[in-house]
Amino acid sequence: MKIDTKIIAHRGSKGTRPENTLISFQTALDDGADGIETDVHFSKDNHLIIMHDETVDRTTNGSGLIVDKNLAEIKHLDAGIRFSPEFKGTTVPTLQEVVELLIRDHFSGIFNLELKTNKIQYPGIEKAVFDYFASINYPFQLIYSSFNAHSLEILNRLDPQAAGAKLFKTAAKEAKSLKKDHLISDFHPDIRWIKRHPFFAPAQNLRPWTVNSTEDMQYCFERNMAAIITDFPARAVQVRTEMRE
Ligand code: G3P
Ligand code: MG
Repeated sequence: MKIDTKIIAHRGSKGTRPENTLISFQTALDDGADGIETDVHFSKDNHLIIMHDETVDRTTNGSGLIVDKNLAEIKHLDAGIRFSPEFKGTTVPTLQEVVELLIRDHFSGIFNLELKTNKIQYPGIEKAVFDYFASINYPFQLIYSSFNAHSLEILNRLDPQAAGAKLFKTAAKEAKSLKKDHLISDFHPDIRWIKRHPFFAPAQNLRPWTVNSTEDMQYCFERNMAAIITDFPARAVQVRTEMRE
């Protein structure tokens, strides 16, 4: 079967490594992922911090909001020990550290940066992200995404060429918002939403999350969706290889 679907590693190889850490991203590259998805927040001193939640509580040995901490405090946290003692000493990366890892690896796939501005807006974060990428040369395809369409509008104004993906979760509310999201070029829906709306089109810019079971992977590969976002890129590579044979 011809399958062009790309495999994007969700927070790195989240299923087997502490999420959103350099070891998680390196493992995703070693697993053969075609893309990396990650989440970004602003620290108190306006550094771009890679983490999923607004607080550090779930994934580190600390507590409190990222926005209330400066970079030096965040760098003292352990982002591995809660996942497994084996990863004790793993630090919270900045956006720059992740991008430098990808550049060192000559990564030419998709880098999907999700701006986590739906709960805390982090005024100025879009400009900071834009300025950072404008200041470097990078070999990958950059796709911005956010649950906050306003962030994507700001990025679109700053960089009309950049791809912007609206993330969505629930049927009624989000389906309505699609009509007015004319600036949004790509769609990253919950796989459960897609399975309830199987005629949603087009497939070329559809990258659902989080596609973890073999069955869901097969569902997306059969429909030749643009990409899947998965916690288990190694499994996805294996499933896709078997289906291509
Ligand atoms: O970008 C897809 C996915 O990461 C969106 O949800 O909560 O895992 O960031 P979340
Ligand atoms: Mg995300």
